[in-house]
Amino acid sequence: MSVITTIEDLRVLAQRRVPRMFYDYADSGSWTESTYRANESEFQKIKLRQRVAVNMQRRSTRTTMIGQEVAMPVAIAPTGFAGMQHADGEILAARAAEAFGVPFCLSTMSICSMEDVAANSTAPFWFQLYVMRDRDFVTRLIERAKAVHCSALVLTLDLQVLGQRHKDLKNGLSAPPKPTLANLINLATKPRWCLGMLGTPRRTFGNIVGHAKGVGDLSSLSSWTAEQFDPRLSWADVERIKKLWGGKLILKGIMDAEDARLAVSSGADALIVSNHGGRQLDGAPASIEALPGIVEAVGSQIEVWLDSGIRSGQDVLKSVALGAQGTMIGRAFLYGLGAMGQAGVTKALEIIHKELDITMAFCGCRSIGDVDRSILFAGSFPR
Ligand code: GLV
Repeated sequence: MSVITTIEDLRVLAQRRVPRMFYDYADSGSWTESTYRANESEFQKIKLRQRVAVNMQRRSTRTTMIGQEVAMPVAIAPTGFAGMQHADGEILAARAAEAFGVPFCLSTMSICSMEDVAANSTAPFWFQLYVMRDRDFVTRLIERAKAVHCSALVLTLDLQVLGQRHKDLKNGLSAPPKPTLANLINLATKPRWCLGMLGTPRRTFGNIVGHAKGVGDLSSLSSWTAEQFDPRLSWADVERIKKLWGGKLILKGIMDAEDARLAVSSGADALIVSNHGGRQLDGAPASIEALPGIVEAVGSQIEVWLDSGIRSGQDVLKSVALGAQGTMIGRAFLYGLGAMGQAGVTKALEIIHKELDITMAFCGCRSIGDVDRSILFAGSFPR
C-alpha cells in the first residue's frame, strides 16, 4: 500500500490483513444493510458553507466530553472482538487513544479484559456494559470496572435482541476461530495476523471467560453469550445500574426524542444517538438524521453525542454543527487497528483530526465553540 491518507486506505489494508470472519464482523450491517449505508450517505448530503478572509491562526479542536478534556470531540467507541482485528487490539487502541488525548471505551465483548487494559495503559478508560440475564455477573462487571478506575460507564440500550448479520452466520464467527477447513485456508493468507495471535495469550472474551458462571471454557462460551442478552431490559434497570455504578453514566443507542426525554429523566450524563453502526434495526434512519430532533428535545438538559457513520473529520464537524457535543468512531479505528495495530489507530485519529482542523478553517471556525448550524449550507441538512 502506498501512502495512507484516508480511513478508506486503512479499510482496504485491514481487509487484506484481517481474517475474513473478523473483517466481515466489523464491516457488516444487519439484514439489507440499508441503515449501515445510510449512515455514511446521509453525511455526504450535508454541505458546508465556505467562508473566506477570516483569520485562521491559532485554531483548536479541543473541547470537553462529560467534563473530560479531549483533543477533539471524538472518542473510541466500544466494539466487540477488537482484539481479533489485531493481537492485543484493545490494549493497543487504548494506548493510541491515550497518546492522542481522546477517550477509549472498552466493550463488554472485548478480547483483552478490563484488568488487562488497565494494567497495560495509563489513562482511565470508559467501560461499556451490556445488560445480561445473569444479573450477578452484571453487578460483578460494574464492581470490576470500579476497581480498575474506569471513568465512565457506557450502557448500551439497543442490543436486547440481536440484529441478524448474515455474514457472521455464514462465517461461523467465534473467538478464537474454529479450525474448519475454510478458516484454515483463509488464515493461511494472513501470516502477519497469525504471528501476532501466536504471540499473545489473549484470544477469547477476557471480561467473560473465568468470570461468568457456566463459562469455564470456550466450548460453553458461544451458547452462553447467545442466551445472555436480556430482552427484559427496562428503565428500572438503568436506574439500578446508575445507583450501583455511582459515577458518570452514558446511555448508548437512543434514536428517538421520547427515549431521549426518558434518558434525561434517568439522570444520565450523556446520551449517544446511535443505531449501532447499522448493525441492529435495519430500516432505522441514519444517526445524523435522528440527531437534530433529539438535540431539539433535550440538548439543553444532557450532553448529546453521535456515533454510526463517522469516517472523516468533516463528519465530526457536521455532527457538532447539528448539536452533538461529541462523537464516537467504531469502524474508523477498527480499520486502522486491523491494518497496522497501534500505529494504525493513531493514523486513523490523525487523519480525522487533520480533516476536522482544516475543514473548520474553511468554514471560518477557530474553535469547536464557533461551530453551529450557521456553518451548514442552507437546505442541505436535516431539521
Ligand atoms: C455488538 O456490539 C455488535 O454490534 O456486534
